[in-house]
Amino acid sequence: MNTDEGASALRQAQGAGSKAQGAVSGAQGASGRRFAVITGGSSGIGFEFAKVCAAEGFEVLIVAEQGLEEAAEWLRDGGAVVTALQADLSTFDGNEGVAAAIQQSGRPVDVLALNAGRVVGGPFLETDLERDLALIQLNIGSVVHLAKRLLPAMVDRGEGRVLITSSIAATMPGPHYATYAASKSFLLSFAEAIRYELKDTGVSVTAVLPGPTDTEIFDRAGMHDTRVNLGPKDDPAVVAQDAYKALMAGDDKVVAGSVKNLLQTVAARLAPEQFKAARHAVYTKPDDLKEE
Ligand SMILES: NC(=O)c1ccc[n+]([C@@H]2O[C@H](COP(=O)([O-])OP(=O)(O)OC[C@H]3O[C@@H](n4cnc5c(N)ncnc54)[C@H](OP(=O)(O)O)[C@@H]3O)[C@@H](O)[C@H]2O)c1
Repeated sequence: MNTDEGASALRQAQGAGSKAQGAVSGAQGASGRRFAVITGGSSGIGFEFAKVCAAEGFEVLIVAEQGLEEAAEWLRDGGAVVTALQADLSTFDGNEGVAAAIQQSGRPVDVLALNAGRVVGGPFLETDLERDLALIQLNIGSVVHLAKRLLPAMVDRGEGRVLITSSIAATMPGPHYATYAASKSFLLSFAEAIRYELKDTGVSVTAVLPGPTDTEIFDRAGMHDTRVNLGPKDDPAVVAQDAYKALMAGDDKVVAGSVKNLLQTVAARLAPEQFKAARHAVYTKPDDLKEE
């Protein structure tokens, strides 16, 4: 899809009380390419994953709340076929709208990357309840919702690959972003469970576990002054490449990025939970709490 086709595809989605804005091109797709859906495709790891998919010849649908047009234009400038769909995936209607837009297009989904996520930083007693609940709705609710709506067609077709973005934080309690780390544990367990259920269907499920990665996510979470934000981070492009390779290999999970991430997850298998919580807190504790 060129720029004009992309622009024409961006029109108000209709039906199903949709709260998603945009529409997906028709049944065969104008391009005849395989089709990848990427939530959180406007920035960070999701955007890099969209670049990889585009380079591999997929038509790409990116879903996010903001920054979509810049991301879509960047991808189109590189020759990608891309559609952008705006939705708040922390809401029921946002997820229904996205699922409806994809279903109404009749496009078979070849790759479903459920990647959108946020962090809420700070001691649990001080974080805002609404933000914690919105995180759960986005990080967990959106993945469950879109998987529930889109997997049946993939299974009926007997083909497709699902990528779920968890984190190495899934393998250890995460003080000072407790709801975030817990949401990533949910995703790892969920990915492994549905992978098992789908093992004879032709649809594979892969979890990607990045370590600290150089995106805006910690700044957006108010975690500017934490060691996890200020310390070394992986390149999101490398994380996306690792994720893509594991997805195409049909692996159950991949610890993406540096070897340090892998070592941490191996050590996490043996260490007691409170030891891991104490180690993790060193990285997530806000600077003004360092004297605790
Ligand atoms: N960066 C790390 O260190 C790290 C480590 C492990 C795992 N991860 C995981 O990687 C995934 C991507 O994060 P990232 O680091 O690439 O951060 P990011 O650059 O902030 O990207 C987050 C993406 O999610 C989208 N998003 C956030 N809230 C949304 C909402 N309510 N509705 C729709 N889209 C929404 C964002 O779009 P908008 O701009 O529109 O909000 C953006 O496209 C997340 O699941 C995160 O937990 C990140």
